[in-house]
Amino acid sequence: MMEDTVQPDLKKSLYDEAEKELISITEGETNVTALMATVSCILSQKFDYYFWTGFYVVDPQKENELIVGPYQGTLGCLRIPFGRGVCGTAAATRETQLVEDVHAFPGHIACDSRSNSEIVVPVINGDGQLIAVLDVDSVEYGSFDETDRVSLETLMQRIFA
Ligand code: SME
Repeated sequence: MMEDTVQPDLKKSLYDEAEKELISITEGETNVTALMATVSCILSQKFDYYFWTGFYVVDPQKENELIVGPYQGTLGCLRIPFGRGVCGTAAATRETQLVEDVHAFPGHIACDSRSNSEIVVPVINGDGQLIAVLDVDSVEYGSFDETDRVSLETLMQRIFA
């Protein structure tokens, strides 16, 4: 069982493995739902510290609102307005949010009170449009670092841009 104290080198090699697997599995696939479901599945299986793994997609009917998309984990909130909580902030700023303690984050939305740290990465398509955010939560504090950030940002680009 991998703990949150996983060494950066091990983390990096697990991300490299996940990326290789995902590139191979999704080759030629353009359906965004299929891609998101596959990314959620592979990442959540690969990393024991991932407690909730999934996507909030930009609602085509309400462009300033996110709606829950494919995920693995406990029940997620259905809708998040842009600017609210960690996901809403990532969507509004188009910048990755790396949060060591979610309880200290203004407006954090506690879908599951067991989540204690989180990373949220914007997902931008090939036309430069924000289509979703990838949200990963951990029950430990401070699970995510620069290795998670760089690896997940790279993965989102390779799969969705
Ligand atoms: N923690 C998120 C809400 C989504 S859930 O954790 C699945 C937030 O504050 O944006």
